[in-house]
Amino acid sequence: MQYDFREISIRAKQRFPLSLKGIHGLAHWQRVQENGLKLARYNGADKDIVRLFSFLHDCCRENDSADPDHGPRAAEFAETLRGELIVAADEQFERLVAAIRDHTHGMHHRDITIATCWDADRLDIGRVGMRPERRYLSTKIAQEDWIMKWAYKRSTR
Ligand SMILES: [Fe+2]
Repeated sequence: MQYDFREISIRAKQRFPLSLKGIHGLAHWQRVQENGLKLARYNGADKDIVRLFSFLHDCCRENDSADPDHGPRAAEFAETLRGELIVAADEQFERLVAAIRDHTHGMHHRDITIATCWDADRLDIGRVGMRPERRYLSTKIAQEDWIMKWAYKRSTR
């Protein structure tokens, strides 16, 4: 996969209608990226998909509470970047789109890359005063005590 991450992050920020300093803003995207890359080091998840997921999954939110369609909306947005800013094989791109589209409803996923994306997001729940819960995590490494503590500490800063 080839992609222009700098330009993609600019587009995601431009597309985001809420405050970039809010709970679903830039600092969250960055922590999700760090979480996901950390997990990927241990479980072999696709790092490119993890990075793109982190900066795209919440960029089409219309509010900071319940917005059940923000996943599908962001998946559509990702499709518009294909060819221009993201060049990927169908199979890899479809995995990225599925991770983004279904992250709002999906619970667990058997695909290690999609599961890693969702875990990376859920490990950042401390920013809204909650603790990551093992039963909401899909990957073994995310369920490790030290990972949950490491992510929680960063999420509350
Ligand atoms: Fe998120």
